[in-house]
Amino acid sequence: MATRQSGIRLARRLDEVGFSSIVQMRNKVMALRAAGHHVHGMHGGEPFFETPDRIKAAAVKALADNQTRYAPSSGLLPLREALSVKLAAKNGIQVTPDEVLATVGGAHALFCAFQSTLDAGDDVLVFSPYWTPIGDLVVAAQGHPLQVPTVSARRSGIRKTMEQFSTPKVRAIYYNTPQNPSGVVFTRAEAEEVAAFAIERDLIVIADEAYEDLVYDGKHFSIASLPGMAERTISTYTFSKTYAMTGWRAGYVVAKEPFMTGMRKLVLYSTNGVATPVQYAMIEALKTPEAEIARHREEYRERRDLLVAGLNEMGLECPPPAGAFYAFPNVEKIHKNSEKAAQILLEKAFIATVPGSAFGAQGEGHLRFGYAVSLEQIEECLEALRKFFA
Ligand SMILES: Cc1ncc(COP(=O)(O)O)c(C=O)c1O
Repeated sequence: MATRQSGIRLARRLDEVGFSSIVQMRNKVMALRAAGHHVHGMHGGEPFFETPDRIKAAAVKALADNQTRYAPSSGLLPLREALSVKLAAKNGIQVTPDEVLATVGGAHALFCAFQSTLDAGDDVLVFSPYWTPIGDLVVAAQGHPLQVPTVSARRSGIRKTMEQFSTPKVRAIYYNTPQNPSGVVFTRAEAEEVAAFAIERDLIVIADEAYEDLVYDGKHFSIASLPGMAERTISTYTFSKTYAMTGWRAGYVVAKEPFMTGMRKLVLYSTNGVATPVQYAMIEALKTPEAEIARHREEYRERRDLLVAGLNEMGLECPPPAGAFYAFPNVEKIHKNSEKAAQILLEKAFIATVPGSAFGAQGEGHLRFGYAVSLEQIEECLEALRKFFA
């Protein structure tokens, strides 16, 4: 007798969508800490400082003023106006407030971007190693990520390498600069190569600029500012990193039609917008003087230099990352398999990192150490590493 499958089952399109191994490492660390161990937490990606008081006060004031009702699901007009001013001044992207949409963090912006551009079976070129959730976000939109090795692309030519990894089904390119986990900052010339390729093949670019304010060597450049790119680029941003607002879930996405209408629908039927008091905090955050952002950047640079010098001293080869706040050393000296290397460091030295394989095939042989922690935490981690190698 033929067995009938139960009707109580998960929608099939979620079968291939995974849970990030960053979350798995977070769970292991919580278990070790609960058992009384002191763990050097280098696995995270959250700023070392707290959300500035001014920004918190703006949310508190919004609550006191009873700004607790529905806001327009695309975001308050003053917020979208402030964002369009910021985009023109800082990114060279000229947009009207209607071409900006507030989202529940950068992750939501990326979700909307992929959902509004991909049809089932479309391929997406993704520079690898890449931020782990990207693969799952593409799969959740029923697309396929095609990994383009960043190191060889930069060595042998971006355009040539993209051609090599393309298929006729490629619809979009995921372009993240500064990159998580490698810290690569693409130059303007590289952005021009990606743009030329996108225009030639009539592709959409999804530009993830989460770390735009964290560039130590070189300069951040927004690909949407290039001629002919605004209409084919969806740029995503977050308040998480620059303003230390990870828990607020505040981000935005910038695009022209037809994508804006598509993403408005996605926001309307997913979250129906960002919490109203959070939007007031976002408006305040945008008033942050550039000097304050630069000061934080210098504090990150100090952390980067300390960690990278220590890693290299111990033979964990690590070129200084040009941006973001992660070091991505080669750890084959510990174990060729990065999952194993991460496990060994966690069990023997109580150092929590993320295995490079979580960031795509090109991440294998590496571990990601987040340096958005205090200088003392970095010193302690290096001391634990020294003891481990002794
Ligand atoms: C490359 C990249 N893009 C986007 C995000 C999204 O951040 P959030 O959802 O906190 O705004 C992150 C967060 O770690 C990231 O690393």
